[in-house]
Amino acid sequence: MSDLKKRLLPMLGHVSGKRSAVTCALKCGNACAQGVCNTSSNNYFRDVVSAEFSRRNMLGVSSAGVLALVFGGSAAASATSASGLSPAAKVASGAGSKLKFTGIDGVEATVDNVTVPKGYNWKPVIRWGDPLFADSAEFDPENQTPESQAGQFGYNNDYLDILEIPGTNGKRAVLFSNHEYTNEAIMFPPTMSASDVRRTAMAAHGLSVVELRRKGKGQPWEYVRGAKLNRRFLFDTEYELTGPAAGSKLLQTKADPTGRKVLGTQNNCAGGTTPWGTILSGEENFNQYFKVANPTAEQRRYGLTDPNPSRGWHLEETRFDTDLPEGKNEDNRFGWIVEVDPFDPTSTPRKHTALGRFKHEGANVTIAKSGHVVSYSGDDERFDYLYKFVSKGKYVEGDKKHNMTLLTEGDLFVASFTGNSPANQIDGAGVLPSDGAFDGVGHWIQLTKDGNSMVPGMEIDQVLVYTRLAADKMGATKMDRPEDVEVNPLTGKVYVACTNNTKRTAAQADEANPRANNKHGHIVELSETGDQASTEFSWNLLLVAGDPAVDESAYFGGYPADKVQPISCPDNVAFDSVGNLWISTDGQPGTIQRNDALYRVTLEGPERGKVEQFMAVPVDAETCGPVIDDQDGMVYVAVQHPGEDGSWEKQNSLFPDYLPAGTPSGKGGLPRPSVIQMYKGKTGF
Ligand code: FEO
Ligand code: CA
Ligand code: CA
Ligand code: CA
Repeated sequence: MSDLKKRLLPMLGHVSGKRSAVTCALKCGNACAQGVCNTSSNNYFRDVVSAEFSRRNMLGVSSAGVLALVFGGSAAASATSASGLSPAAKVASGAGSKLKFTGIDGVEATVDNVTVPKGYNWKPVIRWGDPLFADSAEFDPENQTPESQAGQFGYNNDYLDILEIPGTNGKRAVLFSNHEYTNEAIMFPPTMSASDVRRTAMAAHGLSVVELRRKGKGQPWEYVRGAKLNRRFLFDTEYELTGPAAGSKLLQTKADPTGRKVLGTQNNCAGGTTPWGTILSGEENFNQYFKVANPTAEQRRYGLTDPNPSRGWHLEETRFDTDLPEGKNEDNRFGWIVEVDPFDPTSTPRKHTALGRFKHEGANVTIAKSGHVVSYSGDDERFDYLYKFVSKGKYVEGDKKHNMTLLTEGDLFVASFTGNSPANQIDGAGVLPSDGAFDGVGHWIQLTKDGNSMVPGMEIDQVLVYTRLAADKMGATKMDRPEDVEVNPLTGKVYVACTNNTKRTAAQADEANPRANNKHGHIVELSETGDQASTEFSWNLLLVAGDPAVDESAYFGGYPADKVQPISCPDNVAFDSVGNLWISTDGQPGTIQRNDALYRVTLEGPERGKVEQFMAVPVDAETCGPVIDDQDGMVYVAVQHPGEDGSWEKQNSLFPDYLPAGTPSGKGGLPRPSVIQMYKGKTGF
């Protein structure tokens, strides 16, 4: 092992769970190897008494003419479909999708290639290190610097969306991606100084906005260097805090006594695209970037406990050392949902305190029938919670300026789930109870109302900055790492990917998290009662993931288990235009020994629960940010951490360029996390 790798991975060999040790160490600061953050006495749910839309597939719909679907709750959406079929009928028939494919088999976890269905091709849209601006340096892996990286596409792309630029007839678009974290041991030569490594890695974090062009709809894209919307968001980018906690003393620092201006964003994971054409991005495992020698109870609840963080950013910027006066409260300024306007390169990105502070996987917004907007967000940590925010103001079609205020004021809720089967039938084995379903009802517990705290003993800014502790007090249900949460644009049902939780014991099993040692995760399907902004819901588990050949608890919405592709560790979700759910995974090599992948799941009709695999990413990689443009016959994913377990000297992956084996890393023989596009045939080439 190189010295660099040793320095960065002090916990190597001490991790447990689904992923490679390297991913655990770098992505979430070894969260799995550490104690459970949520040590609250808050019970598991069986004991709890209280009981314009997501635009992932919006290519072809201009931001000015955003299609705003309005939900009346669990009923079908308003009839905005172009065909004569009602939305519900379209869902049932699968009609209208141009994306025809024969599902592929699972791909062995050693394969260093992108695997697509027969008849399909793939090509990168943009890669780590691609220069974004006219004066950016070319990618030079042997000689990367903080300055060169600042002008290039960042590392480990995660959330992704591609939005058509209005009036370009499908020929121009803007791509947004965030850059969750870095893997210095495979990115940089061991000869690079520790400080240069740190500062270049910092510049490889953040966000990117990049213009794309193509010959026409259905054709592959290329990115446009030097285009006017191109932008990198770095650690000197100023973010404005909005909402009730902005300006709070909990958010004031020595450098920013106003408590309203933060420099940079960290560890951005998934996200969402709003009906008004902006992007939301979730600050997730921000804790691992801070030095904390003497954690407070609040810091411990957020995993801010490392007196010697291996990334060492505190050695570059003292604000990341919470033991110094410069670092006091700086950690409170991360863990938010960030909103970015990709169409305005001069706009100031914002962090919305009204949506609460936790390890946000992402956030997805929908419009309730009442006109209020509703944002769902998961806190991706074992035994943490599912949240929803309901805006005070109402959506106004076409008024972007107004709509961009909607996430600054409103009420925050956390979910409590109750099962309907006897407790003795939920024994942790994951076997369906006698009523044939893991299901029940639920309640959204109100944490804030009209700008006031609803949590006894906590002020409004405390509820928003220490949201986890507020939710503990109010009896939220401890979930198995809720990741992406999205609303089906055709039915209004909400889908929650619970990726896994190997720490849950049989005694802690409940009907919404029914398996002990839940290696494979599950998908919750939630139907709001009445309006989307309702405080009551019903729910069931659509999928209990796993390989049915060896795991009898694997369940696929009632579909025959011998007719599906095994799936494990669901992470990001998306929908196609006919209402199928698409799921990307994070961790299959460690659980079912297959490369991570992208699946289509039928939701309605006799084939409900049918899981078909569309593609697989290369060795060690994770499938992120799926965008399904089935009307155009295109699918996009962000391929994150390919070849993660390699080293500079011995790379594990050569994705996506696949230069000849033996090409030195410094000459491009190294993996480059990239956004890829998949399409049928050889269109455009
Ligand atoms: Fe960054 Fe929740 O995965
Ligand atoms: Ca039941
Ligand atoms: Ca994940
Ligand atoms: Ca994720």
